[in-house]
Amino acid sequence: MKVLFLNGPNLNLLGQREPEIYGSMTLTDIEDMVREHADRHNVEVVFHQSNHEGELVTQVQQSAGDYDYVILNAAAYTHTSIALKDAIVGSGVSAIEIHLTNVHAREAYRRKSMIAQACIGSINGFGASSYILGLEAAILHNKAKH
Ligand code: DQA
Repeated sequence: MKVLFLNGPNLNLLGQREPEIYGSMTLTDIEDMVREHADRHNVEVVFHQSNHEGELVTQVQQSAGDYDYVILNAAAYTHTSIALKDAIVGSGVSAIEIHLTNVHAREAYRRKSMIAQACIGSINGFGASSYILGLEAAILHNKAKH
């Protein structure tokens, strides 16, 4: 099984960005933690981060043939990007939405996800563990298919 972790804008600043909200781990720390978990489950993972909406759209489009799942922390684009939602639907890739924070317990504008409708499901609020839980969700979803 092959999984793409796609990270949206400002997630490259994790570790220094509002640590009281997003924690102290960097994106590389999270990637290392996910990779360790993925290795134990024989899952191949690729990590990618971009601050650009179009780049994320292209990555989603290209992921369809290459990956079994895209686990997407679209960050702020979650709440605004019809293009990302259309890319998930249009490419037919199996997507899982994740967030470090509980977006429903924050500002009202974070409660709306433009991509949720196109995803299998979403995980939010568990900090860096949301990434592990996203991976677990993909593994279990994949098992249920076979
Ligand atoms: C986030 C939540 C978004 O609302 C925010 O814009 C982010 C990070 C999260 O992981 O909690 O950049 O996606």
